[in-house]
Amino acid sequence: MFYEPKKKNHGLAHNPFNSLIVPRPIGWISSLDLDGIPNLAPYSFFNAVSYQPPTVMFSSGTGAAKDGLKDSLRNIENTKEFVCNLATWDFKEEMNESSKNVPSAVDEITMTGLTTLESRLVSAPRLAEAPVNLECKYVKSIAVPGWSDADNFKIILGEVIGVHIKDEFINQEGVVDIAALQPIGRLGGNDYTLVSAQSFFTLKRP
Ligand SMILES: Cc1cc2nc3c(=O)[nH]c(=O)nc-3n(C[C@H](O)[C@H](O)[C@H](O)COP(=O)(O)O)c2cc1C
Repeated sequence: MFYEPKKKNHGLAHNPFNSLIVPRPIGWISSLDLDGIPNLAPYSFFNAVSYQPPTVMFSSGTGAAKDGLKDSLRNIENTKEFVCNLATWDFKEEMNESSKNVPSAVDEITMTGLTTLESRLVSAPRLAEAPVNLECKYVKSIAVPGWSDADNFKIILGEVIGVHIKDEFINQEGVVDIAALQPIGRLGGNDYTLVSAQSFFTLKRP
């Protein structure tokens, strides 16, 4: 089949776009608002974009608040800091729960029963339950050109200025044991995938 997204002529029950770029890593973003209220939400339009400086991005769509922004985006543009926590198998339910559309004043970390640790270099808290936390300094936002004013995606770039890895996930060879981390990734619809020892394979570069 062939379709043109702008013509919305895929003719399928669901827009297949999300199912075609898979699996997507999940940036589980913690931030603070200007009053110090913590916020947590998952973003799967998320990735690493450069090694040096290590930089990550996520893309935020329209939010339900009056200003049309999602809380993460507003918080990060205001405070210039955030933490990107690794979403893993053990906390998949909390990850999903933290995507709930709740008023800005609600702290999704407490709401989901998760706990925080102080970050070292940013004021935003990091998730104690996550085996990896990337402390990020806001770099800039880039508005994604839309088809109309209703299309409102913005890319947030953050420089990773501090990295926490729980020691138990670094093996004797000094390598991060990704299988032990059990990261989860987003597929299409409501489907996810798990990175595990069974899903690993290795290819030598030519
Ligand atoms: C796994 C997962 C991935 C998501 N990825 C995105 C995304 O990339 N961009 C986005 O705008 N919303 C995404 N969402 C929805 C947001 O998490 C949701 O709108 C959330 O309420 C935003 O919270 P905030 O306003 O506290 O930032 C995702 C939800 C889930 C469950």
